[in-house]
Amino acid sequence: MVTGACLADIGHDVIILDIDRAKIDKLQKGIVPIFEPSLDRLINKNMDKLSFTTHLDEVVREADIHFICVWTPTMEDGSADISAVRSVARELGKNFNKFKVKAPIIVTKSTVPVGTGKAIRQIVRKEYKNDFAVCSNPEFLREGQAIADMMHPDRIVIGSSDEESAKKVASLYKDLRAPIIITDIPTAEMIKYAANAFLATKISFINEVANVCDVVGADVEAVADAIGMDNRIGKSFLKPGMGYGGSCFPKDVRALKQFSNTNGYDFKLLKSVIEVNEQQRELVIEKLIRATGPLKGKNIFVLGLAFKAHTDDVRESGAIDLVQRLQKQGALVRVHDPLALLNAKKVLDDKVKLVGQPHEGANGAHAIIIATEWPEFKDLDWEIIKKQMTEPIIIDGRNLLDPSKMRELGFLYEGIGRR
Ligand code: UDX
Repeated sequence: MVTGACLADIGHDVIILDIDRAKIDKLQKGIVPIFEPSLDRLINKNMDKLSFTTHLDEVVREADIHFICVWTPTMEDGSADISAVRSVARELGKNFNKFKVKAPIIVTKSTVPVGTGKAIRQIVRKEYKNDFAVCSNPEFLREGQAIADMMHPDRIVIGSSDEESAKKVASLYKDLRAPIIITDIPTAEMIKYAANAFLATKISFINEVANVCDVVGADVEAVADAIGMDNRIGKSFLKPGMGYGGSCFPKDVRALKQFSNTNGYDFKLLKSVIEVNEQQRELVIEKLIRATGPLKGKNIFVLGLAFKAHTDDVRESGAIDLVQRLQKQGALVRVHDPLALLNAKKVLDDKVKLVGQPHEGANGAHAIIIATEWPEFKDLDWEIIKKQMTEPIIIDGRNLLDPSKMRELGFLYEGIGRR
């Protein structure tokens, strides 16, 4: 949707196709079925250039360039499931053949393992004998900032086996004035995984540094600031906490590790990146037990459920994992999130109490854990919250609150690698 809306906004005619009738019905009325800031405004602004359908056969002739933007979820062994991509390629091939579409270009936006471009070519070739091109054009969009990331990209990557189709895809983005890298398809596919795996590695690295800071009495915030000032390192993605979550990093790190493995290479570093990520939630629980003792029968209030702030998405959220681990230890868990309560309800056990107001959750709590870095949690009336709690314990899994302020208020405050 973001790709479609942004392409329309920069002047192209875009048809968005989905097999989910309910989503398409909503979009036709200008209602956006996901939460992404400003996306509804952008879609409604560009309704004259956008159309929505569930019928590939009715629209296949109208497009010159066909983007595949379907999901590639994790399979049990960690590899990416590209069955949706394969099925779209098959349908495109059949319809190109049926309507004798002239020289279509297929572009993968979905994150797909190296070799998928080649597989798409073979699938389409079976159905369609005339000329067509396959390109890879990975997206680098963060949830919550997807429109800004699409409109002001650091770079645009286009993988192709022929220069002419690469240039056609590149021309779509000419008004964005971003650097465009044209390469072959396997390299473009690899760039996406390498980018996400590197960022995830940065997060696991700073998490380990934070854990060492905890045991040696150093302060990770100052360490991250200082190392980030080195241009070779950079300041971003150095926030320690409960580990990375979301629909991309966990899935893509596992998939890169897995397809390296199936191609005969053991990506050792990524094993540790994943292990450290999972360990971070357990360390939060260890801190909690050190502060309050065994968790059986204790009221624990978890503030934040989304995998990061400014989204309602709880996919692979560290907060959800944490809640489940707390329950295993026998804790009575209450949770609050400004946006993600509905989505969390679908995945959490019925025994978890969802509260609409932070003060409701704080009442009689033995401890509070900050699990998502929502800025509004900073502005809660912590003086009142302290009075409401049975024990004034805060474990800040996101290093969101000011430690000295919390301690002045009389809290036993613990962050991640912070003094
Ligand atoms: C990510 C990539 O950033 C984007 O380029 C890609 O296309 C899709 O995946 P997104 O999943 O929206 O985007 O989330 P992002 O903002 O990158 O954060 C991922 C996770 O890492 C979150 O759980 C976040 O809390 C965590 N994180 C991020 C940290 O723990 N520390 C950091 O310093 C940064």
